[in-house]
Amino acid sequence: MTIASIRRLSPACGAEVSGLDITQPLGADRVQELHQALGENGILLFRDARLSPEQHIAFSRQFGPLEAHVVGDFNLPGHPEIFVVSNVKEEGKIKGAVYAGQYWHSDLSYMPKPSMGSLLLCHEMPKIGGDTMWANMYQAYNALSDVMKNFIGGLNAVHDYSNAYDTYFAHLKERPPLTPEQRAKTPPVEQPMVRTHSVTGKKALYVNPGFTTGIVGMPREESQPILDFLFRHSTRPEFIYRHQWRPHDLIFWDNRCTMHYALADYDFSVRRHMHRTTIAGDVPY
Ligand code: OGA
Ligand code: MN
Repeated sequence: MTIASIRRLSPACGAEVSGLDITQPLGADRVQELHQALGENGILLFRDARLSPEQHIAFSRQFGPLEAHVVGDFNLPGHPEIFVVSNVKEEGKIKGAVYAGQYWHSDLSYMPKPSMGSLLLCHEMPKIGGDTMWANMYQAYNALSDVMKNFIGGLNAVHDYSNAYDTYFAHLKERPPLTPEQRAKTPPVEQPMVRTHSVTGKKALYVNPGFTTGIVGMPREESQPILDFLFRHSTRPEFIYRHQWRPHDLIFWDNRCTMHYALADYDFSVRRHMHRTTIAGDVPY
């Protein structure tokens, strides 16, 4: 069996999958095919995915074990597998992670085993704005010179979750600094700067502005200009697909070969409400 229909969304990355009933079990061949399509396209879009939390979890589980976010406050009560990305207030309290991902990042790159992929389901979206962008990190890697490829190919970078809190969230009262306990659960980790995709075997650049804070063995004054160059380079418009969400869009993205950015360009009094499941991954190599 082959996927009913798959259509590329942009030269950078992304493909839309249609003609699949994703409320039903897929079967091993289909799952394998979708793993391959994900690794090749970086993101897969399923339109009109009217899934309950149980169906969202069941669909996601077919691709690997799910994990709950380290900051438990953002998880859906009764369904710890669902991470709520939302600005919706109930009884004066936001019921999820607000301002999530408003900087370039690859999910959980700060963990020893970063998540393989995430499946984000759009429930409510402002009429205008609130897009998400993905960058193709295979293309970013391929467009480097051989000298740079060789140089960074042997290096590890430091990734630290608290970087996002100390920089991007520093001025936001809704995202207070991590508690000492949360910080203790997410000590800095080292990751290869170039990672090999476990399905496609292709190499991808693996550093991101959200969480990458240094290069192992280098003082900051040496590492930062290199990282700044790589961040600028990997976010060139040619490498980016920008998605304009419709309610019931489900996007499955691959954290091994893409990074993403949530645009904060909309009126925050308008509801933007999403559910995410997160698939566990392996140690990058
Ligand atoms: C995420 C994230 C992006 C968005 O859920 O991992 O970064 O557009 N969200 O909400
Ligand atoms: Mn994210």
